[in-house]
Amino acid sequence: MRTKLVAGNWKMNLISTQGAALVDGFLKRVEVRDDVDIVVCPPFLSIPRIRDVVRNSAVKLGAQNVFWKDDGAYTGQVSAKQLHEFCVDFCIVGHSETRGKFGVLEVPETTVPFFGETDETINLKIKNLLFYGITPILCVGETLAEREEGKTDEVIKTQLLGALAGIDGSELYQFVVAYEPVWAIGTGKVCDTAEAQRVCRFIRATIGEFADPEVAEDVRILYGGSVKPNNAKELFSQPDIDGGLIGGASLDGESFLQIISSA
Ligand code: 13P
Repeated sequence: MRTKLVAGNWKMNLISTQGAALVDGFLKRVEVRDDVDIVVCPPFLSIPRIRDVVRNSAVKLGAQNVFWKDDGAYTGQVSAKQLHEFCVDFCIVGHSETRGKFGVLEVPETTVPFFGETDETINLKIKNLLFYGITPILCVGETLAEREEGKTDEVIKTQLLGALAGIDGSELYQFVVAYEPVWAIGTGKVCDTAEAQRVCRFIRATIGEFADPEVAEDVRILYGGSVKPNNAKELFSQPDIDGGLIGGASLDGESFLQIISSA
């Protein structure tokens, strides 16, 4: 039986005092339940402060990205070793915003390789996170053009197998995958529930082929992309959708609470 998981990805929003007030506010109201895990992923600079707020609470701490080396001359990067020092439990990798696609390419094509993640760098990040006992939240998802070309499953399979290459299946029991169709992120266009379920089932089947079906049954698969209080319940009641990765709505305590109670 998989425990539901609702994670808030704050992206580059809120200064640490605002983030602390947000979490403090919903901690006072959130119902403590053992059938749903709650995670907040603040910007790096807010992590120490939010860690103090969530300590001994029902809320776990996540990061939004990581570099795959422990230390060295990697200006501006943050390692899993450093996240581990701050008791970070989860870390998002492969978000479409860090893969460098940004939904539509907002930057010249030639600059993307300098900051964009690839399946190969995502794989290195996952291996390093697992080494430090931090659970990766691996994001996969197709762009609108890829969907319209009928390539959704192919894109997702490539992203999944690239990210998992060389990882022992037994390490995937605690794993989290988030299906985030790029066209649904921040657009208000939520994926049709039946289609979101179909893709999440496909993700589980692909992990089953890669590792084994028993492991795949334990992997939590989230849906992300314009999840709001009014659509969360239907999405989360699907058999292969184990919760959500929430962007905009996680910045509002009331909305986030309502989404959690839908899980
Ligand atoms: P929105 O919920 O704002 O669409 O963002 C989803 C997302 O990208 C979460 O990682």
